[in-house]
Order: sequence, then C-alpha cells, then structure tokens
Amino acid sequence: MVQHTGAQHSALIVDDERDIRELLVMALGRMGLRCDTASSLAEARGHLARERYALCLTDMRLPDGSGIDLVAEISARHPNTPVAMITAFGNVDAAVEALKAGAFDFVAKPVDLNVLRDLVRHALDLHKGRRSTRDTVAERLYGRSPAMTVLRDTIAKVARSQAPVYIAGESGVGKELVARTIHSESPRARGPFVPVNCGAIPAELMESEFFGHKKGSFTGAHADKPGLFQAADGGTLFLDEVAELPLPMQVKLLRAIQEKSVRPVGANVEVPVDVRILSATHKDLAALVAEGRFRQDLYYRINVIELRVPPLRERQEDLAGLAERILERLALQQGRAVPRLGEDALAALREYPFPGNVRELENILERAMALSDGNELTAADLRLPRPLAPLPTAAPSPPTHPTLKPGAVDPRTLSPRDTGTSALPSFIEEIERAAIVQALQENRYNKTKTAAALGITFRALRYKLKKLGIE
Ligand SMILES: Nc1ncnc2c1ncn2[C@@H]1O[C@H](COP(=O)(O)OP(=O)(O)OP(=O)(O)O)[C@@H](O)[C@H]1O
Ligand SMILES: [Mg+2]
Repeated sequence: MVQHTGAQHSALIVDDERDIRELLVMALGRMGLRCDTASSLAEARGHLARERYALCLTDMRLPDGSGIDLVAEISARHPNTPVAMITAFGNVDAAVEALKAGAFDFVAKPVDLNVLRDLVRHALDLHKGRRSTRDTVAERLYGRSPAMTVLRDTIAKVARSQAPVYIAGESGVGKELVARTIHSESPRARGPFVPVNCGAIPAELMESEFFGHKKGSFTGAHADKPGLFQAADGGTLFLDEVAELPLPMQVKLLRAIQEKSVRPVGANVEVPVDVRILSATHKDLAALVAEGRFRQDLYYRINVIELRVPPLRERQEDLAGLAERILERLALQQGRAVPRLGEDALAALREYPFPGNVRELENILERAMALSDGNELTAADLRLPRPLAPLPTAAPSPPTHPTLKPGAVDPRTLSPRDTGTSALPSFIEEIERAAIVQALQENRYNKTKTAAALGITFRALRYKLKKLGIE
C-alpha cells in the first residue's frame, strides 16, 4: 500500500487496450490513486487540460499517434506530472526514447505489479518535500560560472527522472559529487546511495559483489550475502569508473538493468531490485565502444542522459569561491581559523592549469595550510607543482609560473643534451619531479599505483619523493 498524505492523488492512464486500462485502474486504485483513462492521444489531451495529475502512464502505440509525443507534451506543458511509458517487454529502444523525451520511468509489459508499485511511490515522492533541496545542494556543488549554472539546472531536471545518467569529465572534476547531488535531489533521496568503484573489484568476485550470493555457492561463501544492487534497492547505484568493467560483466549488468532484477550467484530465482543507475568515468567511453572494449548496448543503456562536468581551467570564475569554500571546510575540520588566500596566491592559482581539477585544488590548499602558520596563504605556501618548463637554451633559469599545460612536453622525450652541462643534475631533477607529479596526479596520489605506473618500486618512489621534497 502506498502511503499518501492529504488529498487523494489522481492518475491518468492512456492505453488503447481496455483490459490493460482496467488492470491498471485496479492496481493504482489499490495504491490509493483515483484514475482517469484515455484510449487515444486526443482523449488524453482533453483530460490533461481539465485536471492536474500526480502521474500519467501511457502506452507507446496509440491509434492517433505515438505515446512519445504525449511524453514530450506533458514534460513541456505539465512539468509537475511525471509520466511513465508502458513498453513492450525487452524493447530497449522505446524505453530509451521515452526517457529522452522526458519520461521519468518506463514499465515493461506485462506489467509487474511490484515494479508498478515502486514506480508509483517514486512518482508520488516527487510531489512531497520538494522544497529547498536546490539551496542545500547549491551549497555543496559550488560554481557560479555559466557552465556550472547550466550543469546545476540540468541536475535539477534529471534528478526528477529515473533515467540512467552518465557523468563524463576529467579526473577530480566532481563527478561523484554530481552523482550524489542527483541522488539527493531525487525522489530516491531517502533511499541509499551506493557508490561502486568498478575498477577496484577483482574480476572473479564481481558477479557476487554486484548480485550477491547464496551460502555455499563457492568456496568462502559462508552465508547468504546481498549484492550491491540489493544494497541500493530503493535508491541509487553509482557505477564509478564504469569503463573498467570486464566485458562478460557488462553483459550481466545490462541484463540486470534491463530486467530490473538480479540473480544471486548460486540462487535459482531472480530478486527484483528497484535501483536507479548513475555511472561515470574519466575515460572516453564512446572511444572505448568504437574500439570494442565497451559494449555498445550497455553504453546505449547507461548513457540515456549525458552530463559533462567541465574541467576547472574552463571555469576560472569559480576558482576563488571554490578555494574559499575548501579552506572553510578544512579549517572547520582542523579546528582552526579560516586562512585567507593572498593576492599572489590567487594569481598563482589562476595561472595553474589544474590537471587534477578540484581534487588537486583541495590537495594544494590542504598542504598549504599544513605548511603555513600565519593566517594568510602565500603563493610560496601553495608549492604548486612546477610546470614542465620550456627547454632552456643556455643555463636553465628557475621555473616561473606555470604556463604550459601538462603533457605539452613529455618529459620522457626530453634529452639532457638540450641543456648546459653544468645544470644537468638539477635539470634531470626537474624532469623527474615533473614525471612524478604527473604520475601522482594521474593515479590520484595513490603511491602504490604511481610507483607501478612509473615502473619503480614503492620504496624507490618514497625515496624520490623525499629527495625531491614532494609531499
Ligand atoms: N563544484 C564543487 N564544489 C565543491 N566541491 C567540489 C566541487 N567539485 C568537486 N568538489 C570536491 O572535489 C573533490 C573531488 O570530487 P569528486 O570525487 O566528485 O571528483 P571525481 O570527478 O569523481 O574524481 P575522480 O575522477 O578522481 O574519481 C571532492 O572532495 C569534491 O567534494
Ligand atoms: Mg570519482
């Protein structure tokens, strides 16, 4: 039974088959909804003009046109009426098309009453407690640049839908924060948000991690264990680093998303799950699809809506405000006064390209706070990673502010022949430093991974960090 507060909600059911209309009226009636029905687009439009509905369910094929058109019309003219599409079983294209047109969800025929109940609950939740969420979120996902303003507006829109969202963007731009924001603004906000780093699960455990397992289904399975899908039931499953999923797992995942149910390892029945899928990667997923390393059908399914989080260097306007908020947060955590950012420090930040984006800004500020004892951070406190300096022709001059984008000069292709011999050791040190800093950023400051990427041992890396004075 779906709980509903206050006045009775009403729903509009649009289907040209009488049996289906009657079935849905009965099912929704049991959930406390009053229903109107229509067997054509024209009839539906008539109802919509007279009444405000808490939910509309529409069939795809109608005698006078397509349900998709109705979805588009309702989302444009009646944005407070969530509309869900009834699709033929397994018709992915129709479901995707409906979501793109603005449907908040879809339900496959024959309609499973459990799925329908979840759908109705989410639709009604959209009407409840939808105040002030935007303000609280604006506090968290900061950004006043035009790019971030557009992004936040888009988040507010997609949060209301159940459509899968794919979040693209460089390392450290805030993809996970965007995913959390979508969840917390959605009707699933009171459900769990379950982030999964797809690159961190060993391939042999993946199926059991995602779908759970029955006791005794393999060595080490001492008890029944629910998987991540079940853990996220009623909420959001965030597939982070989704590009890292092995191909066989991609097939199984697609199936779970499609069927809205999972089969735990060793179980012989499917368990229905009500989960919204968000995913992200810093890799170019479309390129991986083209290379055959990511399945096109899964890509198509998770990428119904794509959000692009812009790199920090493309939103200079946000830099000062972002730095301020990060300093406030760090100061609060450390129980000290909020340090100010000096003019020279801000100027230095503005010139820095931030290959590691907001996360790198956080790291830089945290280190600066640790180094400075005063109440104002200077450019020197920031100790910005040195740029890969332009090659000096005679003796190298000490690097000034960074101007080169990372990767503009590949340190491995540099040769000490290009420099004055007397400065050779320090020149090599600079190259080493640049390579290490870049590898650290690429591996998100994970030293084990960084060492592996550089092809040196963990101990050797630790030694070099110390020698070069890299924190
Ligand atoms: N717009 C923003 N406002 C406030 N904090 C932000 C913003 N964007 C990112 N951050 C912060 O920066 C850090 C990195 O963000 P997040 O983990 O979401 O990035 P990501 O894109 O998932 O990174 P990665 O690719 O490394 O996984 C987090 O601490 C996050 O809170
Ligand atoms: Mg992330």
